[in-house]
Formats: sequence, structure tokens, C-alpha cells
Amino acid sequence: MMLTVKDVTLQFGGVTALSDVAFEIQEKTVTGLIGPNGAGKTSLFNVVSGIYTPTSGSVHFGSHEISKMQLHQINRLGVARTFQNVMVFPDLTLVENVMIGRQSRGKSGVISSILRTSKERQERLEAEQRSIELLSYVHLDKKKDQLAKNLPYGEQRQLDIARALATDPQILLLDEPAAGLNLQERLSLKALIRTLATMGYTIVLIEHDVKLVMDLCSHIVVLEYGHKIAEGTPQEIQKNTKVIAAYLGTGGEENAAN
Ligand SMILES: Nc1ncnc2c1ncn2[C@@H]1O[C@H](COP(=O)(O)OP(=O)(O)OP(=O)(O)O)[C@@H](O)[C@H]1O
Ligand SMILES: [Mg+2]
Repeated sequence: MMLTVKDVTLQFGGVTALSDVAFEIQEKTVTGLIGPNGAGKTSLFNVVSGIYTPTSGSVHFGSHEISKMQLHQINRLGVARTFQNVMVFPDLTLVENVMIGRQSRGKSGVISSILRTSKERQERLEAEQRSIELLSYVHLDKKKDQLAKNLPYGEQRQLDIARALATDPQILLLDEPAAGLNLQERLSLKALIRTLATMGYTIVLIEHDVKLVMDLCSHIVVLEYGHKIAEGTPQEIQKNTKVIAAYLGTGGEENAAN
């Protein structure tokens, strides 16, 4: 199993963001993580990626117990994520944004070492080549020397995905990548996620666009008030009465109105 979340509870003072949440993610699958606002979806990503240590329970990535590891250690093992609010460096170019993602790979610091030794120069060159390749996955390689702030919002979100890929992860956690995207951008995001899945990345997708989740995911986990209320295939989730009551009933209408 690639990722095992075992009875994870996360409390903030009196607030229980996650309550005994357990599920497993298989290698090379696309899993959806859905649920109403405040359900605990982002909190779960924060636990898996090492931003928070769970109050109790554990998380295993392959054979590693990662729940007490630091963010950068977990990242180095092969877990990368994007954020609900887009995180790009506005005054850096696209290629620089992606190269910064690579820095956390922990080799000799790529940007800081510019032009120091020939080995570092070589590393920098390789990092740049790889960054351009990653930009090409999200169709932004032609804009590689533009400043990130000059990109439309949808493309900034794509850039954030390229930045996350820069650490050469095995599993990619995407927190609402379609938020704020127009229809055309949603379609290209869908194609991108399909491509990444074909390339062998394991993907976990938090998303309110239920149709997008149903189209992309082979497996779906549903949270409500910090509890896992259902898990299964898209067909099973669509029929699940608990999920319909908690989420799909209103979620579907919201999506129809968008
Ligand atoms: N750092 C924090 N301190 C206190 N409470 C927090 C913190 N982070 C999250 N919470 C609380 O945990 C609960 C779950 O929040 P979380 O952000 O994980 O939900 P979500 O499912 O991602 O929601 P959304 O769909 O709105 O993004 C909420 O009640 C939230 O207020
Ligand atoms: Mg969230």
C-alpha cells in the first residue's frame, strides 16, 4: 500500500478537525477526497504532508511511518502537495518558481549556489532542464521566462502543480486545484491529471466539483465533520444515502449553479 492513514485524530484545542480517520491509497491510482466545507480535507493533507502531527493515529508512506516526520523529510521521501490558496512567487519567472520546488530535494542548494563550482553549475543546468520539462507538462514551457504574477489565475494554479512535481514525488496531493478555474481551464486540468496518472503518479484530489471527481477518480473517500462517512467507487458514492444527505444533495445543486 502506498499510503495508509490509520485512525488519525487531529485536535486544535476544543476543535476536532479529524476523528479516527482511516483509509488506504494504492499506488498509481487517483483518489478523490470530498466533503462539505470544514469537513477536515485540508487538515488531512496537512497531517500527511507533515505540517501537523496528528493528536493520535499514524500515517505510513510505503514502509515509512511518517506521522512524526518533518515536512521536508516527508517531501524527500516522495510526498508533494499543492495548496488550496495558490502559492507561487509572483516576482520570479516560471522556471525559477519550479526550480525553487526542486531545492527541497536537499542537494547543494540550486539557486543559492549559482555559478559556484562546475559541479553546482552542472546541477543547476540539470535542474533548469527538468524544470522546463515539468513546465511542458502543464503547457507553460513557452512562458518559462515570464514573471509568475503576469499569468492568469488558472495558469498560476498549473504552475503550482509543476512546482509540486519538481521534487519528483511519487504521490501528489492536490487541494482544490479546480477552484476558481473557468470551464476551459477545468478541462485542461482534467487532461493534466489524467496524463500524470498515466505517467505513474499516485494522486489524491480534494475537489468540490463532484463531476470532475467522479470522472477522474477510481476511489473516493468522503469526510464530514472530521469523520469518514463513506468510501468506495464513484458509483458506490453516488448511491450512498449518507453522502447524498451530507454533501451530494446540496453539492450537486451548487455545481449546477456554477
Ligand atoms: N490551524 C487550525 N486551528 C484551529 N482550527 C483549525 C485549524 N485548521 C483547521 N481547523 C478547523 O478544522 C476543521 C476542518 O478544517 P479544514 O480546513 O481541514 O476543512 P476542509 O474540509 O478543508 O474545508 P474547505 O472545503 O472549506 O476547505 C474546521 O473546523 C477548521 O476550522
Ligand atoms: Mg480545505
